[in-house]
Amino acid sequence: MENQSYEDFISTVSHELRTPLTSIRGFSQTMLSSWDKLDDESKKRFLKIIEEQSNRLISLVENMLSVTKLQSSKETFVYKETDIKPIIQTVVAIVKNQYKDKNFEIKIHDKTPTITVDRDKFQQVMVNVIENAAKYSSPDMTVRVCADCCGDFVSIKIADVGAGISDEDKLKIFNKFSRIDSPLTRKVQGSGLGLYITKNIVEKMKGEISVNSEKIEGGEFLTTFEVKFPVSNIENQVREACKP
Ligand SMILES: Nc1ncnc2c1ncn2[C@@H]1O[C@H](COP(=O)(O)OP(=O)(O)OP(=O)(O)O)[C@@H](O)[C@H]1O
Ligand SMILES: [Mg+2]
Repeated sequence: MENQSYEDFISTVSHELRTPLTSIRGFSQTMLSSWDKLDDESKKRFLKIIEEQSNRLISLVENMLSVTKLQSSKETFVYKETDIKPIIQTVVAIVKNQYKDKNFEIKIHDKTPTITVDRDKFQQVMVNVIENAAKYSSPDMTVRVCADCCGDFVSIKIADVGAGISDEDKLKIFNKFSRIDSPLTRKVQGSGLGLYITKNIVEKMKGEISVNSEKIEGGEFLTTFEVKFPVSNIENQVREACKP
């Protein structure tokens, strides 16, 4: 990493860590100093904030470790022929449990071929994108995950309806610590590292990720992230092996 970008990284990280830590310290100090004056309802509310902010710190630290590992090229990928269906089903179940106000729909074509990926990392990619769709869509909306074979690729599309992503922001969201400045993004927590990590992992596994966001009826946007991985088959593998 260049010096300048390293300094930027440290300064952003310190800021990101400081915000939840300040809030954890503030609420615990208030509880300790005013314990007898606080009613049960307030105590519960304060503890909830402390819990949320601790979760935010944990996910931030996990994401930062992922970034550091990816950049150090020490990260190992264990490639296996993989059926995407059970992984997508598991991920949707996990995200559903976290975002109970959203609906989820999975459509995986029966004949979808296998792909050769690191299974844990593929799961991490799916968690990031499906979680974003749940997190940034409008209330009560449905997150749709569909997968199909498309030429030599398996294409997985994750679609949601919400505030959408402008053309200008489409270029930025895959950068480190990049979050769209909007009332919704300010309301929901995130470090802005998810898509940076996702794109990095996808490309290391010879895949591609792209996004499309278009206006639909009612003024909302249909946002679709597409993740593509090469189909694993003997022919492909031989072709790869014979490349000069
Ligand atoms: N489905 C989506 N609809 C609208 N905006 C989105 C969507 N997915 C991502 N974004 C925008 O892209 C930004 C970057 O996403 P990214 O996943 O990298 O970070 P994050 O969700 O803010 O934090 P985290 O690191 O916890 O994932 C988000 O902050 C949000 O503004
Ligand atoms: Mg995210």
